[in-house]
Parts: sequence; C-alpha cells; structure tokens
Amino acid sequence: KMIFDGLSAVGDDPILRISILYKADNNPNKVDLGVGVYKDADGYTAILKSVKEAEQFLVNNQQSKGYLSPAGNPEFNKAVEELLFGKDHPVVKQGRVATMQAPGGTGSIRIGADFLKISHPDATVWISNPTWPNHFAITDMVGLKSKSYRYYDIKEGQFLFLEMLEDLKAAKEGDVVIVHGCCHNASGADLSNDQWDQLADFMAERKLVPFIDIAYQGFANGVEEDAYAVRMMAEKLPELLIASSYSKNFAMYRDRAGAIAVVSPTAQANEINASHMLKIIRSIYSMPPDHGAAVVAHILKDDSLRKQWYQEVDDMRGRVKKMRLLFVKKMTEKAPNSGFDYIVDQNGMFSFLTLLPEQIQTLINDYSIFMMANGRVNMAGLTENNIDYVTDSIASLFKA
Ligand code: LMR
Repeated sequence: KMIFDGLSAVGDDPILRISILYKADNNPNKVDLGVGVYKDADGYTAILKSVKEAEQFLVNNQQSKGYLSPAGNPEFNKAVEELLFGKDHPVVKQGRVATMQAPGGTGSIRIGADFLKISHPDATVWISNPTWPNHFAITDMVGLKSKSYRYYDIKEGQFLFLEMLEDLKAAKEGDVVIVHGCCHNASGADLSNDQWDQLADFMAERKLVPFIDIAYQGFANGVEEDAYAVRMMAEKLPELLIASSYSKNFAMYRDRAGAIAVVSPTAQANEINASHMLKIIRSIYSMPPDHGAAVVAHILKDDSLRKQWYQEVDDMRGRVKKMRLLFVKKMTEKAPNSGFDYIVDQNGMFSFLTLLPEQIQTLINDYSIFMMANGRVNMAGLTENNIDYVTDSIASLFKA
C-alpha cells in the first residue's frame, strides 16, 4: 500500500466551479453571475486607471525587490490601517492594533484563524447562515470548531437580525463571531449602524470576539461610511480581528492584496499577539507578495491618485446600484409577481434570487445563466447588453 493512495477526491469549490462551467459553455448568450468580480458596462473586468498609473510609477521608480518582512509592505500596512480605522482612532493612538499584509482576504482570514487556534483553541467560531463558503473551509482546515447563526432567509428575502442575536445567545465567553463588515457575501443584507451598535453591546456584554471580514469597503455606501462597523467595534470591544481585502475595491483580484489586523486590550498584549501572527506568516509563506500592496500604498499616499481611486470606487458602486434598479424594474414589468423588490436596497455585488432550486438549475442548464446553486448572483455581472436576456429568462420561469 502506498502512502498517498488512501484519499478520495474532494469536490471543487462551489464558487470557483461556476467559472469553470461558464468558460466551458458554448452558448453565445451565456452570462456569468458567479464569482464576485466587478465587471464594467461592457462586461469586462478592467484595470483601474489609478492602478495602472501606480504600476507605471513603480516600473519607473522602484529601486529594489529585496525582501521586506513577514508583515509585508509597511507603507501599505499604515495606509490600509487608516482606511479601516480612519485618522486618529484611539486604538491606533494607544498602540493596540497591528496590521499585517497578507495574500488577499482569504490569506488574511487564514492567518486570523491560525492565530485563534493558538490563542483560543477551544473557541467556537460562529458563522452566518448563509455565508461565503470559505469561512467554513478555513475554520475546518485549521481545526477550529464552528457553528452557524441565522442571518438571512433566502426564501423570504429577509434579513434576520433578531434571530441572529437569538442564536448568538448560545455562544460562550471567548467565542468568536465572524461578521461581514459591509456588503454581506452572499445576501447583500447589512446591519444598519444602529444594529451594529446593538450587536457590539451584545458582544461586549457576553465577552464575544468579533472577527470582521471586510472585502467590499466602498461598495455599500462609500469608503468611509462602510468602515462604520470596524471603527465602532474597535472602540467598544477590547479584542477583535479584522481581515480586509483590496481585491475588489482596487480591482486587483489576482495580485492578492489583503491585511489581517489584530486589536488587543493593551499595547503590550498587542505586541505579543502580533509576534504570534508573524510567526504563523513566516511558517506558511514567509512574506506576502509585494506588487499589489505596493500599488495600493502608492495610490493611497498620493493625493491625486487617491482622489481618482475614490472616484473609481464610486463609479463601480454606482454601476452595480444602477443594475439592481434596472433588474427590479424589468422584472416588475415582465413578471409582476416575481417579488424581487428587496434587491434594490441590498449592498455590494451579491443578492439571492428567491427561486426554487429547480428554477435555478433551469437558468444554468437551459439558459446558460451561471450562478451559485443556492441562488446567489453577482449583480455586477449584469450589463445593459445582457439584462433583457437575463430578465426574460427569469420571467419565463414565472409563466410556465
Ligand atoms: C466570491 O465570493 O465570489 C468572491 O469572494 C471570490 C471568492 O474568492 O470566492
């Protein structure tokens, strides 16, 4: 018997599989509403102008590609810390936060999860139902226990705030709660600022630790506005983890720019916590790839590029909102009882289509409109060119 012959194959990731199916499909009308990637009005994932300019600057001016350190690019860490916490946040001034570059949102969550396995090995990680499937995959992979809390009713198109709190009453002191900082992936349903306040008080009282996953800062209401949960929770709670991604808001998906930030009760505790994270980083990949982070750092410290980037984020957000409105308008015309109104007020790229599983399969198999099997669609995949095809196809399900 060989050592490696005992395994059986595991299935593809449910999100990445959609891209494979989409690429293999020959239907000229095919539409990709799968993986969370922004597309412009032509259905194209273009490089932002601010990013191109920063890349050109680096080509012309970067002098060395010598090693940095496990914490990555220090200018990036400083710049994204300010993006997350704002200027002069008390935890920054008190030396209670350490922000370390990591490869994308996923790499950041992974470092946070590995850190929890060392610091709180008995903690249960509470994960929203529904969520981004990788939250479970990562917690399982590092060997942490997980449980889910109700968050959104897919069938009714309804956010379940009270049910969320109800379920979290079962969490014990020291348990960790993964929350989506803005633009909940997969429902697009976010807490209001008032609900965030209530959640923070609830967690402080029960000594729960928030693990904020923020991958879409700027896609809900604006770069500053979308940092509300991070800034407020860091004031109200002594300890938290924040995994941030710059894949979406800088449209640099493949460059893997992200960061893990830890907030600790004291500056001294924070140094110790950061030292563990740096040890974890060193043992996995030693140091994160620099290019994406160097681009983000350059844009954020250059006034005119920063302004341009804000504008580009506003444009991306505006286009997705426009598609949400257009989708609901067309569905209301084509199938008045289809009931998709809730989609207008949701945030970011994703929403669920409240359809039956077999209707979703029909859209995928018969119309080549690709989405997750649970009905999660990437609204940024809609364009003026494909919206009639998509809404006609969905409307036909209501006529049958
Ligand atoms: C998604 O949810 O589609 C994105 O976050 C991409 C990914 O890595 O899954």
